[in-house]
Amino acid sequence: MNGDNIVYFKKIEFKLDVDIEKIKSSKLKEKYEDLFISYEIKDLKYFTDALSQVIKFNIPPVSVNYTEILKSGIGKHVDGPSQVALNYYLETYNDITIFWKKKLEDSDPYDLVYAEHFVAENKEAFLLNSSHMHSVVKKDRNMVRKFIRFFWHDLPFDEVFNSIEIIGK
Ligand SMILES: [Fe+2]
Repeated sequence: MNGDNIVYFKKIEFKLDVDIEKIKSSKLKEKYEDLFISYEIKDLKYFTDALSQVIKFNIPPVSVNYTEILKSGIGKHVDGPSQVALNYYLETYNDITIFWKKKLEDSDPYDLVYAEHFVAENKEAFLLNSSHMHSVVKKDRNMVRKFIRFFWHDLPFDEVFNSIEIIGK
């Protein structure tokens, strides 16, 4: 097996209306060069009130932040050894999220081939199996990809997926 049966991502159907001004703080949480920058949520009460109208996490994420991807995007990486992430895209510009897999089971871990990809639209959410190698290609380096990022550690992708409840469905 070279990962053909792996679920790399699933779309999660919900719409969240939030004002970026109210959720983007100036407190940095994570930064990779000047390409990927995460900030703490500014007004957590405003954010959780809006969120609780549309989605419920029966397994609470370990963290949530507001993230921007700048310039040409992010090369191949894993978010962590056992990490699942829910990205809710606020502003995206036909940017492509690509997952990569090993050519063969016994291939060199860096000898990778294309596995799957998605192009999110604004106000769409995807749950990512982000312990697998992935990259983001931005179509327009002058635009900033903006999203809210929730993540879980040490849980299987399906367990996180099944714990997400969409309110009103
Ligand atoms: Fe990532």
